[in-house]
Amino acid sequence: MKVLVTGGAGYIGSHTVVELLQAGHEAVVLDDLSNAQADVINRIETITGRRPAFYENDCKDADALRRVFREHEIDAVIHFAAYKAVGESVREPLKYYRNNLDSAITLLEVMEEVGCRKLVFSSSATVYGPENEAPYREDMPALQTSNPYGWTKVMIERILKDYVTAHPDFCAILLRYFNPIGAHESGLLGDDPNGIPNNLMPYIGRVAAGQLEKLTIFGDDYPTPDGTCQRDYLHVVDLAVGHLRALEYAADHEGAEAINLGTGHGVSVLELVNAFQKVNELTLPYVIGPRRDGDLPAFWADPTKAKEVLGWEATHTLEDMCRSSWLYAKNCARK
Ligand code: UD1
Repeated sequence: MKVLVTGGAGYIGSHTVVELLQAGHEAVVLDDLSNAQADVINRIETITGRRPAFYENDCKDADALRRVFREHEIDAVIHFAAYKAVGESVREPLKYYRNNLDSAITLLEVMEEVGCRKLVFSSSATVYGPENEAPYREDMPALQTSNPYGWTKVMIERILKDYVTAHPDFCAILLRYFNPIGAHESGLLGDDPNGIPNNLMPYIGRVAAGQLEKLTIFGDDYPTPDGTCQRDYLHVVDLAVGHLRALEYAADHEGAEAINLGTGHGVSVLELVNAFQKVNELTLPYVIGPRRDGDLPAFWADPTKAKEVLGWEATHTLEDMCRSSWLYAKNCARK
């Protein structure tokens, strides 16, 4: 299969491109490098021995997309390209709505022009919002979320479902990710956001590398066993493999299907911090701070549907995630 991967130089995208190439597929990456480095394409080649075609373009640029489809016989698209910082989306909502919605709609319009009918979309567990109780199942109402970033995921899911209603021969798989962490075992790919990280694991990596002084744990008075929030952390390589399974499924199915990708287990912030210290044999300075606005106490996936429909299950342990995250953070710190 030849697959266009929008946002393919980013954290999840780059790992997915590696899995695609290693499974014998072809990958074409389109990425504007707004939150990724050009060197990622070289690193993908180092890992796989194969170089994906690369277009440094914005996914809102219809002509750039047309050129990709003209120059390659694309069978399917995985759409990652989007802004993803929750706090920034609260401060600059229009930037998020413009970019994320426009990218998705432009992509769909060009796919329609060229007759490409298979799409895997990078959605998020954030669509379950504060109303539902863990474990989250795909048949729960997924119409609430707490920030503009999350709303772009809810809205694009809606757009895709409406599109499929109008075009029943189209297949859209909406993958609802839980909390991806970890890095490629080579230490060459991982999560290295611009600026000070918002998400827990990249923040921990920078503290462990001595680039940030200490971690602040946001609240220890939640109604959870140790008082800190619980999340369903899954290894980014497991997540990448989930995209392959979704593509294989989409190849001979039609319709829109939302599917969770998570482990099914909640892990608290303190458990994660302790696992990171233990497996990497280091001490991580941390303090307990106030709760962060918008955080939910605890959520994790019911991953049954992914197993039944895609034959996918997470296989990496929390220790694997902590070990590989640190390997990558060390490499980034050396740069
Ligand atoms: C957030 C978003 C989610 C998005 C995901 C990945 C919401 C409510 N959540 O998930 O949509 O898909 O990021 O970008 O929109 N923590 C600390 N200290 C820190 C950082 C985090 O204690 O310095 C804690 C948080 O309180 C939380 C956990 O670590 O309990 C995970 O936080 P984070 O990595 O930011 O992910 P989420 O908030 O779960």
